[in-house]
This record gives sequence, C-alpha cells and structure tokens, in this order.
Amino acid sequence: MPEFSNRNPRTPEFWDQRFEGAFTPWDRGGVPAQLASWLETGKPGSDPRVRPALAEATDCRFSALIPGCGSGYELQAFCEAGWNATAIDFSPAAVVAAQQAVGAWRDHVVQADFFGYTPAQPLDLIYERAFLCAMPRDMWPRVVQRWAELLPEGGLLLGYFFFDDAPKGPPFGADRAQLEQLLSAHFSLAWDEPAGDSIPVFQGKERWMAWRREKAL
Ligand SMILES: C[S@@+](CC[C@H](N)C(=O)[O-])C[C@H]1O[C@@H](n2cnc3c(N)ncnc32)[C@H](O)[C@@H]1O
Repeated sequence: MPEFSNRNPRTPEFWDQRFEGAFTPWDRGGVPAQLASWLETGKPGSDPRVRPALAEATDCRFSALIPGCGSGYELQAFCEAGWNATAIDFSPAAVVAAQQAVGAWRDHVVQADFFGYTPAQPLDLIYERAFLCAMPRDMWPRVVQRWAELLPEGGLLLGYFFFDDAPKGPPFGADRAQLEQLLSAHFSLAWDEPAGDSIPVFQGKERWMAWRREKAL
C-alpha cells in the first residue's frame, strides 16, 4: 500500500489523496449485478416496494441520491433506468473521477458533504455502497439520522452493506446486531441477500439489502 500523509477518513483530503494516487481498492469499476438487475425489473412505478409517488413528483420521475459516490458508476445506471438521480461526494478528486465515469450524466454529480446536503426535491431512494464503511463507526448514528431525515415514509435505503469486525479501517465493517439496532429506530428490513459479485476487499462479507423508511420524523 502506498504511503499517504492524510490518515483521517473524515476529511476530503484523505480521499483526494487516494483517488489522485490511483489507490482505490473499493472501486469495482462498474455496477454490481443485483443493483443492475433490480433497476431492470424494479423500474420506477412498477415495483410496489418503491413509494408510489408519481402523482406528487414534479417531473414524474423517482428521485435517488448516491452519497459518497466515488467513481459513481451506479449514477449512470439509475439515470438510464429513468430515475432522477444525483451523486454526491465531498472529495474533489472523487467528483472528477465520477464525472469522467458517467459521461452524459456528469451534471448529476455534485461536490457536497453528505451531512450538509439538501436535495433539490424529495427523495424516494438512497443508494448505499462503501459509504457507511468509509466512516469510523462513531459517525454511524449521524449517518443513519441523516438517511432518516432525507427519506420520507416508504422510501428505500438500498444497496450493499459490509459486515466485519476488524477494528481498523476503512473499510469499517458492521456488526449485524449493531447495524440492526441503529437502523431499526427508523427503518424496517425489506430484503437481505448475500452480494453475488463482490470484489476481493468485500468478498464474503457484503450483503445486498434494502431498508424501508418506516415513519417520517
Ligand atoms: C470507499 S469510497 C466508496 C465510493 C463509492 N461509493 C464506491 O462504491 O466505489 C467512500 C467515498 O465516500 C466519500 N465520502 C466520505 N465521507 C463523505 C461525506 N461526509 N460526504 C460526502 N462524501 C463522503 C469519499 O470521498 C469517498 O469517495
């Protein structure tokens, strides 16, 4: 592993250094299979697990947010499936990487800190992959709180969750009971399956899950 001067993953500079140094072992270089398949069959409006909010939506499309998007390949997949999707990251180098990766959808990539970001329109879905595990565990209650604030009742928190007990990170893995305890204040589990095509850093420890927002704050 290369040497980096910044060892604090709470700062954008930590991630800038890794993107600029082309050290991104979490980067899968594309869209995970279960998400791709879900976007194919679970088109907005046809999946009862997605909030049926078309009548309220100003532009008649469902809205998704991808926090801590990194290279953001999934943004293109959401947009091409008809979602009004936005990807955010607080690292300028990550934003550049995402803008290069998503081509025509580059205007949907925004440099922003998740904790201070307010979407332009109400969300139906938040996509998670390697964002929670990028942060030290003491930050997780804040992350969950913000997820809960951003999603209306029925909204989905969908994606990949990493389970591991190694004390050092990133990635910081979750303990199953701890994650359930944190999320159950606002969410109920909609599905939970092993990830089918994890890259080596997450192999055998990643799950494809969806959590439904239970009750508006
Ligand atoms: C391990 S990477 C994962 C990137 C991407 N989700 C993926 O699956 O490849 C974590 C990303 O989260 C971003 N990040 C960490 N804290 C953030 C925050 N508070 N707001 C926005 N982005 C953040 C980092 O800049 C980094 O790009």
